[in-house]
Amino acid sequence: MSFTFGKNFRVTVFGESHGDSIGVVVEGSLSGMKIDLSFIQKELDRRKPGGVFTSRRKERDKVEILSGIFNGKTTGAPVTMRIKNEDIDSEPYDMIKDTPRPGHADLTAHYKYGFYDHRGGGIFSGRVTAAIVMAGALAKEILLQNEIKILAHVIQIGDIRVSKEISDEDIERNVPISNVNCADLDVSKRMEEEVLRAKKDGDSVGGIVECRVIGVPIGIGDPIFDSIESVLSHMIFSIPGVKGIEFGSGFSSASMKGFQHNDPFFIRNGKILTLTNNSGGILGGISNGMPIVFRVAMKPTSSIMKKQRTVNIKKMEECEIYLRGRHDPCIAIRAVPVIENAASIVIADLIWDKIYKSL
Ligand SMILES: Cc1cc2nc3c(=O)[nH]c(=O)nc-3n(C[C@H](O)[C@H](O)[C@H](O)COP(=O)(O)O)c2cc1C
Repeated sequence: MSFTFGKNFRVTVFGESHGDSIGVVVEGSLSGMKIDLSFIQKELDRRKPGGVFTSRRKERDKVEILSGIFNGKTTGAPVTMRIKNEDIDSEPYDMIKDTPRPGHADLTAHYKYGFYDHRGGGIFSGRVTAAIVMAGALAKEILLQNEIKILAHVIQIGDIRVSKEISDEDIERNVPISNVNCADLDVSKRMEEEVLRAKKDGDSVGGIVECRVIGVPIGIGDPIFDSIESVLSHMIFSIPGVKGIEFGSGFSSASMKGFQHNDPFFIRNGKILTLTNNSGGILGGISNGMPIVFRVAMKPTSSIMKKQRTVNIKKMEECEIYLRGRHDPCIAIRAVPVIENAASIVIADLIWDKIYKSL
């Protein structure tokens, strides 16, 4: 198993959905950095379940610092943070002890490890992403001090898609007041209806999250295996429920012509910029100074309240299950802060030596 990510800003995640707690240890050259704990808490609150459009599990998700931060500064020791699991109800999961859920990791975990922690998805639970958020928030705060901003928003739920141009300011202003983290408030209402429709039907719905990294210095990314796309994809695919990622014009590049796709260069205030951003701010795996833009496809939640075909792995018999428990009807909504903070870890890791030298 692999629970550690990064080289310079190294993150190790621990915990299970229905265990004692979820946490993270962050290592690197971390001494003397100013940290406001309320910032980390705010990011956790953005990910918290318990709403109409998210899982009904009610958690306080209050961050506890076990080491590495003293008097608002990092001490240089590994930063260890955790949240307790408080609202645990494992009973509804008893029915999946021997009957793995279609679409979830129960069966593959059983194949690989000979068992699975059926309680709330164990290590495969979306709850483990709280660890990514805690570490990411630490990175994000440091990146913000270095004028690097990371913004994500939902651009599609089911077939409801944002079609108008969305500015960075739209994201900052509207996402916090949208129930589904969408920056277009009219579309947000239609997305809400789509989620509620699926939920009422005992079903779930997928979606797409767009993420922008603004202010990344030119020349970040280490070709060939640590290109920005490689490292971001590695991290983003570690978020459960992710089915795809595209950078810049992504899959639509396939139907474009070169003249249309090439981003023309121009000079403004002594800087080389591009007129369009089909490259998503990355050429040859290296940042070109334009915003890094990527989109992430999230699958519809697999735990749905419909009768489904499965197998009893003890008896090796086909059977049916009808799940209970508390689940997100649309993972894409809560994936927004997770993706922002996951990207923060990657960018911090890639530019850590620059940040450290600037202290
Ligand atoms: C924030 C977040 C919340 C999630 N909530 C649920 C959930 O309530 N129910 C569920 O079955 N899966 C949920 N998932 C997805 C599962 O964890 C994921 O589908 C499972 O681990 C299998 O991994 P895979 O989909 O990447 O193959 C969530 C994922 C994230 C990122």
